Amino acid sequence: TTPRTLIAGNWKMNGLSAALEEARAVAAALDSQPVAARVAIFPPATLLHRLADAVEGSSVLVGGQDCHANANGAHTGDIAAEMIADAGGTLVICGHSERRTDHGETSEQVARKAQAAIAAGLEPIICVGESLSQRQAGEAVAFVLGQVRESLPAGLKGQAFNVAYEPLWAIGTGHVASVEDIIEMHGAIRAELVALFGEQGGATPILYGGSVKPDNAGEILAAPEVGGALVGGASLKAKDFLAIVAAA
Ligand code: G3H
Repeated sequence: TTPRTLIAGNWKMNGLSAALEEARAVAAALDSQPVAARVAIFPPATLLHRLADAVEGSSVLVGGQDCHANANGAHTGDIAAEMIADAGGTLVICGHSERRTDHGETSEQVARKAQAAIAAGLEPIICVGESLSQRQAGEAVAFVLGQVRESLPAGLKGQAFNVAYEPLWAIGTGHVASVEDIIEMHGAIRAELVALFGEQGGATPILYGGSVKPDNAGEILAAPEVGGALVGGASLKAKDFLAIVAAA
């Protein structure tokens, strides 16, 4: 069976208490008009618990933007996967390019974070993506497939996880990847996942992220091997986010 499309809204470092209203609006809209897609919001950690409370009883899922590879301990400022679950989260983003760039996260660390997430019962969204110079040098596919091999925990057997392809040059820039480029990359990632995980790799959702907006979401989500979207800027307003959900 094909997993349901996942529309994931990553608020990044945006959103104070007032933003909970946007999450409530998303929950209310999905309650009054159920949709086929799974819908998840990833608020800043400070809002995790309150957002989970705000959407409780609705179909909106909640997730963390990052987790530590360890279960607990002396890691000031970090958050364990179990803490995200304890706050009401069921998913977590691992290895977002902003974590890789801002905090120097390596693919090996990302794999350990994803492993910790799965151990805590969370569903990771493991992010990969090439830079503009890598794409211009014709190295995009090889680089991303290398990230896929290194960023996924070994020994996965049936636990739910997702991969998100986010070309760095498309994040927050308004320059969305062409549908042709998305089809090529998602096809290559699919083949790699099948080689790594067999049947499960054939069903792992591959999300696209990078300047997904209401006006381009339909075309992107209809492309082969696109199992959802990881939405940044357009997830901050309920109206835009719901328009993307409606396009799924
Ligand atoms: O996690 C989301 C992505 O980085 C995409 O962000 O939709 O603002 O380009 P964006």
